[in-house]
Amino acid sequence: MVVIRGATTVARDDKEEIRKAVAELLEQIMNRNSLNRDQILSIVFSSTSDIHSYYPAKAAREAGYAGCSLFSAMEPEIDGGLALCIRVMLFVEKNMTPYHVYLRGAKVLRKDLTSVYNIAIDGPAGSGKSTVAKRIAKDYHILYLDTGAMYRACAVKVLEAGVSPDDEGEIINLMRDVSIDVEYENGRQKTLLDGRDVSEEIRLPQISMAASTVSKHPSVRSHLVEKQREIASKMSCVLDGRDIGTVVLPDADFKFFLTASPEVRARRRYNELVAYGHAVDFEELKEEIVRRDAQDSTRAFAPLRRADDAICVDTSDMTIDEVVAFVKSKIQEKV
Ligand code: DC
Repeated sequence: MVVIRGATTVARDDKEEIRKAVAELLEQIMNRNSLNRDQILSIVFSSTSDIHSYYPAKAAREAGYAGCSLFSAMEPEIDGGLALCIRVMLFVEKNMTPYHVYLRGAKVLRKDLTSVYNIAIDGPAGSGKSTVAKRIAKDYHILYLDTGAMYRACAVKVLEAGVSPDDEGEIINLMRDVSIDVEYENGRQKTLLDGRDVSEEIRLPQISMAASTVSKHPSVRSHLVEKQREIASKMSCVLDGRDIGTVVLPDADFKFFLTASPEVRARRRYNELVAYGHAVDFEELKEEIVRRDAQDSTRAFAPLRRADDAICVDTSDMTIDEVVAFVKSKIQEKV
């Protein structure tokens, strides 16, 4: 006998939704494991406590799985757990290696079993995208790729070489043999410039504007975009930046665009920099953020822009927890 696991989610607590989701899940389990219905001994379902409208076991019976014993139970309510989720265990009379099936929002439960998926989060500085992206990556056990850090590392290279961030000709030369890489240590991104860890340095306030300026040049963008695509093609990740949904991964599975008023964004950046021990002037910072937005939004190549199919979230009056909960609910709704 083997036991096959599976899970799926429903968009709403609704009888028809539950019937559809259960039928789809069982059908996929049957197909992927080449099973006949008479090989199933028993099917056990559990569902999260936000599902009240229908018993998954009843939905299974109606979908034609009537020849085996069926059972449904309710799971305990766990903080941060996946919402509107139905899990299943099939006991099967067959000698085989089981193929477990995770569908829709439940894909995030077993990233080892499902194919690579990407979440794009774009937006201007201080819109909350990196904090939200880090939280989502942690909750879904996927990688967080901070693409801004790569442009910042490039700015460090340019400034160290004594080149003006505006001097595209010189920058093209520098890009020929620069190496900008990311590594992960305890889930945290380390940004490497020619093998040197520059993760701290790239956060210096003077690097922000230089990064925005170097990021205008197509030679810089093509170099870094290629690297970002390579990482995203190999593993599921949440990427934050300015052009992820529009240029880097136009086919990303999930796209979000975060915004907030300049005042709120400057306040967030100010608090962040002060917490890191940098002396900054709030008004100057606000002015720099507005200038940087203007430069990032008006450049010719891959400007900061919401992708047509990205979900826009104004985070001005939202807490991080609220934004994270909203983003997750949209992901679950879509899958
Ligand atoms: O997200 P950040 O503040 O670390 O980004 C620094 C600069 O890098 C930003 O002003 C514009 C540029 N950038 C970009 O052009 N494209 C990205 N995907 C990420 C950042």
